[in-house]
Amino acid sequence: MTSLADIRSTFLNYFGKQGHEIVASGPLVPRNDPTLMFTNSGMVQFKNLFTGVETRDYVRATSSQKCVRAGGKHNDLDNVGYTARHHTFFEMLGNFSFGDYFKAEAIAFAWELLTKDFGIDKDRLLVTVYHTDDEAASIWKKVAGLPDDRIIRIPTDDNFWRMGPTGPCGPCTEIFYDHGEHIWGGPPGSPEEDGDRFIEIWNIVFMQNEQFEDGTMKPLEMQSIDTGMGLERIGALLQGKHDNYDTDLMRALIEASADVTSSNPDGPGNTHHRVIADHLRSTSFLIAEGVLPSNEGRGYVLRRIMRRAMRHAHLLGSKDPVMHRLVPALVQQMGAAYPELGRGQRLIEDTLLNEELRFKQTLDRGLKLLDEELAGLPADAALPGKAAFKLYDTFGFPLDLTQDALREKGRSVDTAGFDTAMAAQKAKARAAWSGTGEAADSAIWFDIADASGTTDFLGYDTLSAEGQITALVVDGQTTDHTDGTVQIVLNQTPFYAEAGGQVGDAGTLRTETGKAEITDTKKFGEVYVHFAKVTEGHLHKGQGAELAVDPQRRAKIQANHSATHLLNEALREVLGDHIAQRGSLNAPDRLRFDFSHNKPLNKAELEQIERDVNAVIRQNSPVDTRIMTPDDARAMGAQALFGEKYGEEVRVVSMGHQEGSGKGTGGNTYSLELCGGTHVQQLGEIGAFVTLGDSASSAGVRRIEALTGQAALDYLHQQDKRLGEVAAALKAPASEVADRVKALMDERKALSNEVAQLRRELAIGGGAKEAVPSEVINGVAFQAQVLKGVTGKDLPALIDEMKTSMKSGVVLLIADTGGKAAVAVGVTADLTDRVSAVDILRAATPELGGKGGGGRSDMAQGGGASVGNADAAIAAAKTVLEELK
Ligand code: ALA
Repeated sequence: MTSLADIRSTFLNYFGKQGHEIVASGPLVPRNDPTLMFTNSGMVQFKNLFTGVETRDYVRATSSQKCVRAGGKHNDLDNVGYTARHHTFFEMLGNFSFGDYFKAEAIAFAWELLTKDFGIDKDRLLVTVYHTDDEAASIWKKVAGLPDDRIIRIPTDDNFWRMGPTGPCGPCTEIFYDHGEHIWGGPPGSPEEDGDRFIEIWNIVFMQNEQFEDGTMKPLEMQSIDTGMGLERIGALLQGKHDNYDTDLMRALIEASADVTSSNPDGPGNTHHRVIADHLRSTSFLIAEGVLPSNEGRGYVLRRIMRRAMRHAHLLGSKDPVMHRLVPALVQQMGAAYPELGRGQRLIEDTLLNEELRFKQTLDRGLKLLDEELAGLPADAALPGKAAFKLYDTFGFPLDLTQDALREKGRSVDTAGFDTAMAAQKAKARAAWSGTGEAADSAIWFDIADASGTTDFLGYDTLSAEGQITALVVDGQTTDHTDGTVQIVLNQTPFYAEAGGQVGDAGTLRTETGKAEITDTKKFGEVYVHFAKVTEGHLHKGQGAELAVDPQRRAKIQANHSATHLLNEALREVLGDHIAQRGSLNAPDRLRFDFSHNKPLNKAELEQIERDVNAVIRQNSPVDTRIMTPDDARAMGAQALFGEKYGEEVRVVSMGHQEGSGKGTGGNTYSLELCGGTHVQQLGEIGAFVTLGDSASSAGVRRIEALTGQAALDYLHQQDKRLGEVAAALKAPASEVADRVKALMDERKALSNEVAQLRRELAIGGGAKEAVPSEVINGVAFQAQVLKGVTGKDLPALIDEMKTSMKSGVVLLIADTGGKAAVAVGVTADLTDRVSAVDILRAATPELGGKGGGGRSDMAQGGGASVGNADAAIAAAKTVLEELK
């Protein structure tokens, strides 16, 4: 039997040989299309190649694309398990021409592959064409030799393919397989077409138009080809089966489901196994791409699919969680073609297990409530909306899960009543909501979320994506278009909104009619608000927009954020476990971290912290992010960030390993934190870490500012340049600068002492040691002098010197300090009984316009406002001596 894996590779290799680039599947969450919830066909990743907006170095491509049809317009969820061909997840094989070959080659390739490589009996094949497409009909006749009655013209949209409400589109031709008379059904276009006999296997779209928002459709410049063939369908056909779930791949998953639930794969529980097998695929692929269960948007679709699968596992009688135990079987079946499954296996298993554990807590009670409600109703009555809402609100039953449960009993739900109950609850939540800050207080963001939904954040995985503008707000009012300063809300965005210390992203937004610079992003309630200024043209509400986060800026912010986690841990290791985060800032140019600690850090501590952080950076290990319940995270030892609010699930970010421990050995993780921010992928991206020192932030809280990457190097270069300048001025090598500066300081001190000495000597005698002429009054030698070039501070030393050289006597020195006078009087010890220096000073200073001054009997100091009367001051001093007894 040819396996699905073989069929996939036969298809890709066939087109590879025909000059097609074999391209890996695009993501399930489209980066380039805001109108799609999930990728629903192979052409989505090539959308811009059809419109000519983008070109690549190939014009032919082939792929096997992962697709999800659950939620949004294409929603197969309700039918899965009950029919032969509905899936929430499937693979679409396709070949594409971008302005290269067109109808003739596309039809010829398809016919050759089906009838030769796949060996399908051509008598069992028939085709449809769009009713006006004579060209396609005649090519089929020529290439395949099909008779007219097996080329069916269809006038409806069944043969005009559109990806979504906008985008490239065109007429198509579909290839059908006739499973034979034993199955009921008629050919396409006949009244019995819905039967199972004629099954569409391949759709070839002649991409020649583009559909616009305003409803108009224009021809595309290029004529292109887009085709799609469901792998599960062609697989069933080639494996001689009628039911997609009987193919080897699906069968392996069904058997795995039977195995973990200890039940018969083909018994009465067969529908449950089919649901589980299908839902295992869609949920695992979504989680592998980072979609996580939540109560909004894509995350809610995922939760609905997961819970639906879990209820079916419950119906099979399984007491313990089972979904996570099926992941290895899926990885075995599909991991080779989709390596992301293997890479994400742990995240997938953990996420499934957490969700199942949580849901199990309420599932039994919810099902009991459902039975009680039904018991009280007439046999065919619908379940009241209020009861369905209670199941949703209290027991975590998504509406479609309740509907699925009722379907088995042939009953329905009053959905209008459910919607009313939901609206009432939203109104209540809104009334209770209190935001922070001026903008957050505004109810406008709630109105926007109510009217247009919330914003999906894509920025953990990508920096560019398309989003749809759901609101434009100017001066606090919504508007339909603008060309000025505006706050923009989109249904999805790669822009990180400020939270947990990490600043909001900046970048650009472009639509068909204009361009805007986004300077900041914040989250109000559940919507992301982009603060922007239109720089070209104008923007409209409802437009699709290309969003591009400034990658360099984000890279710097991320490096700072990751370094902050490492710093936090290094502080705890160096200073102790009392370190708790008190706030942080992760901006593009620097990081700041406030933490509880009540004394300044010394140089050795700061150096140790820098050394530790840089050592972990050099480990260059990948940063690991896992999602878990807060309790599990705490049990692992994760620290909660200060002031963060968490929902049901938390992101746990781990980095590095303790020195000396083996890489990746769980318990030895260096840093483990709960964090919703974005981080580097490998620690080496941080580059380098340099602190700018520590300071006090508030009582008991210290603050460290630091730099990373190029900014750290720039800072070190700047420091080095300054050192170089000093060394150049000293004419010394940098290594000797410190010694040289110390030597200079010592020399300077010695010199200034010497200068003071010389100044004094000069002042009293022009350097000569001769005695200054003096006179003797009443037997007391008296010497007085007016000095220039000395200050009051020099006088005591001068007085001492003069007293020594006089041996016995009284000295009066008046220093001319720029017009003012400083005065000092000295009396040698043998005379202090007869005369006091203080008395002489008090006699002299009033003549100089001073008063007061004082000291001891051997030495007194004072001053005056004017040195002009120095002679009078000297005379007054003499008078004191003359009056001595
Ligand atoms: N895009 C086309 C489809 O999905 C081929 O059917």
